[in-house]
Amino acid sequence: MSSTDGRLVHRYGPWAVVTGASDGIGRAFARHLAASGLNLVLVARREPLLRQLAAELQGNHGVSCRVVPADLADLEAVRRLADITGDLDVGLLVAAAGFGTSGPLLDAELDVETAMAGLNCTSVLAQAWHFGPRFARRGRGGMVFMSSLLAFHGTPRAAHYAATKAYVQTLAEGLRVEWAPLGVDVIASAPGPIATGFSARANLQMAQAMPAEVVARVTMQALGRRTTVRPGWLSKLLGWSLALLPRWGQVMVITQVMKGMTVHQERPARQRSA
Ligand SMILES: NC(=O)c1ccc[n+]([C@@H]2O[C@H](COP(=O)([O-])OP(=O)(O)OC[C@H]3O[C@@H](n4cnc5c(N)ncnc54)[C@H](OP(=O)(O)O)[C@@H]3O)[C@@H](O)[C@H]2O)c1
Repeated sequence: MSSTDGRLVHRYGPWAVVTGASDGIGRAFARHLAASGLNLVLVARREPLLRQLAAELQGNHGVSCRVVPADLADLEAVRRLADITGDLDVGLLVAAAGFGTSGPLLDAELDVETAMAGLNCTSVLAQAWHFGPRFARRGRGGMVFMSSLLAFHGTPRAAHYAATKAYVQTLAEGLRVEWAPLGVDVIASAPGPIATGFSARANLQMAQAMPAEVVARVTMQALGRRTTVRPGWLSKLLGWSLALLPRWGQVMVITQVMKGMTVHQERPARQRSA
C-alpha cells in the first residue's frame, strides 16, 4: 500500500464498488481508493481496460480487485452486479458511469437521449436501491453520485444532459438526509470541466479542464462532511456568482457559458432533411 487514509477504510471499507472505472473520473476514484487501502469492484463495459487497471492497483497498492464487465444501462445488469458482490463486505459505491450530450435538442437522436437518461438517472437510482439497504444493515457506508456544475439551472444546448444531472443532484440531497440516521453518507459531486473522455463523447469544447484526480480527492475528503462538493475552480466560481441571481438570471449566464462550449459544425441528417 503506497499511502493510507484510515478514515476511508474505517468508515467505508473493506470493499468499494466503482462504476465507470475503465476511464476518466471513475478510474481516478479507483486509483484514489486503492491508494487509501480499499479493495475494489471495478465496473464498466470495456473489460480489457478494467483488467489492466485491476493489475495496476493490485501491483501498486496490494489491494484485491474484482472486475465486473457490465452495461449498466440495463437494469438487469445492475441487479447482477448486486448479486455478484453479495459475498463481499461492500461499504462504498461510487456511481461514476455516465455520459453527456450537447447541442440543440431538435438536432438530437431520441434513442441516444433516452439511453442517457437510463444510464445517468434510472441506473443510478437502481444502484442506490440495491446497495443502500446493504449499507444501512451494516450501519456504515457511503455513496458518491456524479452531479455537475450544470445540475443547478436550465442549460440551453445541453438541456437534457443538465436535466439528468439535476435528477442526480436532487436524489443525492434527499438520500443524504434519509440515510444519515442509518450511518450512510451520501454526496453529490458537481465538478466543472474535467479532462476525461466525457467531452469528446458529449461534443463539448472544454478549455482549462481539471484532472480527474482532483474530483476523486476533493470528493472523498468531503464525503460524510458535506451534501454537495464542487471540485474545480469553474464550478466553485459559478456556484458563488450564480447563487445571488434569480433562476432566470442563472439561465442567462449559463447560456453564454454554453455558447463557448458547444461548437457543432454540422446539423445532423434529421434536421437537414426535415
Ligand atoms: N468530465 C467532466 O467534465 C464531467 C463534469 C461533470 C460531471 N461529470 C460526470 O462524471 C461522470 C463520469 O464522466 P467522465 O468524465 O469520467 O466520463 P468518461 O471519461 O467518458 O468515463 C465514463 C465512464 O462510464 C462508463 N460507462 C459509459 N457508459 C456505460 C454503460 N452503459 N455501462 C457501464 N459503464 C458505462 C465508461 O466505461 P465503458 O465505456 O468501458 O463502459 C467510462 O468508464 C458522468 O456521470 C459525467 O456526467 C463529468
